[in-house]
Amino acid sequence: MNSSVVDSDFYTLRWVGDVDGRLELLDQTLLPVEVKYLPCDDVDTLFEAIRSLRVRGAPAIGVAAAYGVCLGLRGSQDRTESDFFFKLDEVCRYLAASRPTAVNLFWALDRMRQAAELQRGLVPLEVLQAMLLDEARRIHEEDAAMCRAIGAHGAKLLNDGDGVLTHCNAGALATSEYGTALAVLYAAQEQGKRLQVFVDETRPLLQGSRLTAWELDRRGFDVTLICDNMAAQVMREGRVQAVVVGADRIASNGDAANKIGTYGVACLAKMHEVPFYVAAPSSTFDLSLTDGFGIPIEERDPREITHGFGKQTAPTGVKVYNPAFDVTPAKLIRGIICERGVISPVDADGIGRLIGS
Ligand code: MRU
Repeated sequence: MNSSVVDSDFYTLRWVGDVDGRLELLDQTLLPVEVKYLPCDDVDTLFEAIRSLRVRGAPAIGVAAAYGVCLGLRGSQDRTESDFFFKLDEVCRYLAASRPTAVNLFWALDRMRQAAELQRGLVPLEVLQAMLLDEARRIHEEDAAMCRAIGAHGAKLLNDGDGVLTHCNAGALATSEYGTALAVLYAAQEQGKRLQVFVDETRPLLQGSRLTAWELDRRGFDVTLICDNMAAQVMREGRVQAVVVGADRIASNGDAANKIGTYGVACLAKMHEVPFYVAAPSSTFDLSLTDGFGIPIEERDPREITHGFGKQTAPTGVKVYNPAFDVTPAKLIRGIICERGVISPVDADGIGRLIGS
């Protein structure tokens, strides 16, 4: 394991050992009560972990999936080359079916496939396996570096004494380390800026209260937890000078998918003339999409709403709609903070210049 990708006193995920090693994940469904690591020795365990949000957050899902390819290929060095590539394809398709919205998952799987294809026919399969583990490690380390760079660019947008509101968890727990939206806060803190952070609870799965409040509290932030429906009042009272959130997929015009409720926060920010920023690495851009209407939105189990607090909180059989993400139109976003700089105004030209076309 590379110690540079371990964040303070916990880590989101790490590979232990060599090609026949395993992946360990911090089981985020147990936070904030219990810090427990889940060993993943096979790709089925990882698939379940992604689907049930034991590991979650767009960049972290991508990194986990890259290591998942290595898990799925364990023991495959004795196959024929065509069987090896058949297995690779099978594992990638399987992991790609775990969650639909965060593009980092597909980006990481494509990168693993391409790394393998480049060596096809050139090296023995055990060497290829080792090269794939190296590629997964590179994805992991690059993600950590991207987060640091996002923090450096974004911190300039915040002032000492600002109130900052965030939604869901786009912190160390959602990435290799440091986070995207929270990286901006961490970097500002490192520059000596004192921030008051308002954390949306983030129904239905409470990533804000369970994860973001936990993470920020451990880093000594002044954290105030609010229910999602309190954000308007908090802004009206003048307590928020900036909103910073992460993203799961950004279309080429800047429309950005993030945790359900983000779009509502962006509308409120517009109403109260508070700048709304999205922080995300270039692996979160999906330039194949002209706008956010093409972003697939995951729908999750109704029980997350009807039984979210360990007991039934709705009438039996009530009809439920549970989209896990929404899309914030580019026109509501003041800037997208990525590792290459800040895109502002947010439009296809700005994205083309910094990310590509
Ligand atoms: O369903 P989740 O918890 O995976 O949703 C995560 C988010 O919406 C995050 O804000 C997003 O992935 C950005 S993480 C840096």
